[in-house]
Amino acid sequence: MIVSFELNGKEVHIETAPDRRAIDLLREDLGLTGTKESCGNGDCGACSILVDDKVRLSCLTLAAQLQGRKVVTIEGVCMETDGLHPLQESFVESGALQCGYCTPGMIIAIIDLLNSNPNPSRNEIREAISGNLCRCGAYQKILDAVEKVVRDRIERKS
Ligand code: FES
Ligand code: FES
Repeated sequence: MIVSFELNGKEVHIETAPDRRAIDLLREDLGLTGTKESCGNGDCGACSILVDDKVRLSCLTLAAQLQGRKVVTIEGVCMETDGLHPLQESFVESGALQCGYCTPGMIIAIIDLLNSNPNPSRNEIREAISGNLCRCGAYQKILDAVEKVVRDRIERKS
């Protein structure tokens, strides 16, 4: 089938098997390797993408389910900024990544959180990333990085 969807702000029409996994379509067919695969069965969050502004696991999403949707991968999160997304900058500044393998999925999950809750508590941030595993154990610094972005946004508005 031809799957048509918006990918990082651009229209995509691509021939694929309807049951091809979205992560394979994105990484192998479309060359967007920022989305990572770790467990491949819904347990780690590394493969998170935004579909219609909500976080989805691309290892459990089929190509046909992207039809007509708006998809954003880690490559597209800074579409509207000049350079890195503020969350990415904060991760770097706060030392919130070690190997970085979980980072794209973490950033996507936190963008989803901040879309619906611009001023989350530390516990709410913790809950939002509860499906995202970090084998390097960078959780505390990840929470610090998100809190810094939230604080900076609030300060800019005041
Ligand atoms: S690779 Fe998709 S949840 Fe782990
Ligand atoms: S920084 Fe290595 S898995 Fe999270």
